[in-house]
Amino acid sequence: MKSMIVSFSARKGGNCEALAEEIQSRIPGSDTLWFADLNVQLCARCAYECIYKGVCKYRDDDLYDFYEKTRAYDKVFYIVPMYSGNPSSLFFLSQERGQGYWSENEEYYPEFTRKLYIVGIGNTNEQTSFSYPFLNLLEHSKGKMLILEPHRYGLGSLDTPLLKKRAVYDDLHRFLDVCLQH
Ligand SMILES: Cc1cc2nc3c(=O)[nH]c(=O)nc-3n(C[C@H](O)[C@H](O)[C@H](O)COP(=O)(O)O)c2cc1C
Repeated sequence: MKSMIVSFSARKGGNCEALAEEIQSRIPGSDTLWFADLNVQLCARCAYECIYKGVCKYRDDDLYDFYEKTRAYDKVFYIVPMYSGNPSSLFFLSQERGQGYWSENEEYYPEFTRKLYIVGIGNTNEQTSFSYPFLNLLEHSKGKMLILEPHRYGLGSLDTPLLKKRAVYDDLHRFLDVCLQH
C-alpha cells in the first residue's frame, strides 16, 4: 500500500511533522509532502478563468501537479493545523485553487475523497469553525477525520509534541487501524 502524507503546517519540526513521521512508521513506504514547499499562487488577480474558461490562469504552478501526484497513492493523509480558529491558509489554498483542478478532473473526485483521511490539530469550540471546511470536503467520506484537540488531552494549544501524551498516541493509532481496514 502506498500512502501520501501532506502537511499543511507553516513550519517543520512541530506536531504535524511528528504526526507525519508516526503515520510513516505505521505505513512503511509512505511519502510526506510539505504543501508549504510548493509554489502555489493565491486565488487573486484573475477573472475567474477556472469557472468561465475551465482552466485556471495559474494552471502551470505546482497545484495541478500536487493533485495529479495523489493519483499514484492508495491513501492520502492530510495533516492540518488550526491557526486562529480555522484550518491553516495553506489548507484553504489547496481547496480554493482545487476549483480549477477539479473542473478539469471531475471523474477523479469520488476516488480522491474515498482515499482521503484527515488529521486536524486544534481546539474546537462554538466560536470557531475548524470543522466546516473538513466536513465539506468529506461530504462523501464520512468518519475519516480525526481532530486532535490539545485541551481535551490536558495540553496547551502550542504544546509540542502532542504525541508525547499516551492518549494522543492511542487515538492516532486507533484512527489508523480504521484507515487501514478500508
Ligand atoms: C498563528 C497561529 C495561530 C494559532 N491558532 C490556534 C487556534 O486558534 N487554536 C488552537 O487550538 N491552536 C492554535 N495554534 C496552535 C497550532 O495549532 C499548533 O501549534 C499546532 O501544533 C501547529 O502545528 P505545527 O506544530 O506542525 O506547527 C495557532 C498557531 C499559530 C502559529
